[in-house]
Amino acid sequence: MSHSAQHNQKNLYIKTWGCQMNVYDSHRIADVVKPLGYKLSDTPEGADMIVLNTCHIREKATEKVFSELGRLREYKEKREAETGRRALIGVAGCVAQAEGDIITQRAPYVDFVLGPQTYHLLPETIISLTGDRPEKRVINTDFPVENKFDHLPEEHDSQGAAAFLSIQEGCDKFCTFCVVPYTRGAEYSRTVQSILDEANKLVDNGAKEINVLGQNVNAFHGVGLDGGTADLPDLLYALSDINGLERIRYTTSHPRDMDDRLIQAHADLKKLMPFLHLPIQSGSDKILEAMNRKHTADHYRDILAKLKKARPDIAMSSDIIVGFPGESDQDFEDTMQIVRDSEYVSCYSFKYSPRPGTPAAAMQNLVREDVKTERLARLQALISEQQYDFNKTFLGKTIPVLFDRVGKDSGKSEGFIQGRSEYFHAVHVKGSERLVGQIVDVEVTETRPSSLSGNIVTGEFASDLKTAVG
Ligand code: 5AD
Ligand code: SF4
Repeated sequence: MSHSAQHNQKNLYIKTWGCQMNVYDSHRIADVVKPLGYKLSDTPEGADMIVLNTCHIREKATEKVFSELGRLREYKEKREAETGRRALIGVAGCVAQAEGDIITQRAPYVDFVLGPQTYHLLPETIISLTGDRPEKRVINTDFPVENKFDHLPEEHDSQGAAAFLSIQEGCDKFCTFCVVPYTRGAEYSRTVQSILDEANKLVDNGAKEINVLGQNVNAFHGVGLDGGTADLPDLLYALSDINGLERIRYTTSHPRDMDDRLIQAHADLKKLMPFLHLPIQSGSDKILEAMNRKHTADHYRDILAKLKKARPDIAMSSDIIVGFPGESDQDFEDTMQIVRDSEYVSCYSFKYSPRPGTPAAAMQNLVREDVKTERLARLQALISEQQYDFNKTFLGKTIPVLFDRVGKDSGKSEGFIQGRSEYFHAVHVKGSERLVGQIVDVEVTETRPSSLSGNIVTGEFASDLKTAVG
């Protein structure tokens, strides 16, 4: 480490696209370069290093990275001209993994490219770019033999009341439309001990909720505390024993790995939130097969029935692709039907976009763009309707809310704070910043298509409210 690097504070700006795993990785990228003097800032202005943590899952996500890089080039040149100081620009994440060479051709001013499995090497990358004999550029998108989790700093900055914890990476499922098995590589699970250690630290730093993450999180099979193999239910029971941890979630799951023990955990563990993201992708068995999803629509319905039995108040969310090659009108109607049957209360829906190198990219029978657009609009209208109907059922109810941030109006005497319901609704109330980090009862007074508002009812905290509104 160079001498000056230890002493000068530098600004780091990270822009994150894509899934929650990328959000987690961005936090860890900030942790990894902290010893070099980099402090996270929320704007690119004045940044000494800018990292784009990218997503390659759909074409749109990739194109956004290149347009952002165009803007950063101007920033880099202006800064060098005005201050004589070089701003480092790096691309991390799945676009880096998949298109490292293309990035450096299209954007030669990029200083480094690191894949999702190599960002722990960022400190040495920075040193080789800024040291006495600086390299022009560093590209490292290998899948290293050593495990990045063994090389990340143990300490990390507080993520606040609701934290993410990555427990599993990669995917062996090979859905025919998906780049993840290629960009994130084969399935890998961390040890239960290392996960519990990290969870305890997050709780010590104020986390009341932990969302354990993995591309295929319910395929988790890490080394257990007894040296044998532990699966996701084992881990959830162990996490549930952590004092001070009040809420547990896990994302993202595959229907094939939703086994009976995992479903039983939803009956047994009060801390496990009654809201589950379980992507179906399509409601048509023909399309599910072409997607290599390895399950049918009825298999999915059976899982839901079991989940409902285990946890009657559970609500579901999903991912759906419309316009996969060969999708007929009837196939699409089957998708609409499973959306109704599953009573999804939230759902991410996408037009199919071919990803280079995936099997579906070579398929015939493409669906016309205008047909995709029309199907997506119909699907999204149905989902919005179900979501709003669900939200309306909360009117007048008192629900626990974990407040995790001050709202937009904070700073004024009538400050707002924002939190999450058990079902992941954004909930807005007037209240004191002191409630951030706490779970507080809220009476819902207003329901909107994608959020709720209400008043704090817990006695002790109601007085906080008075303080806040003067
Ligand atoms: N086209 C459209 N959507 C896709 N997804 C993944 N790959 C593609 C693709 N090629 C969607 C899936 C997945 C979510 C994260 O992104 O629905 O669950
Ligand atoms: Fe992609 Fe399918 Fe793996 Fe999910 S399960 S990450 S959609 S290959």
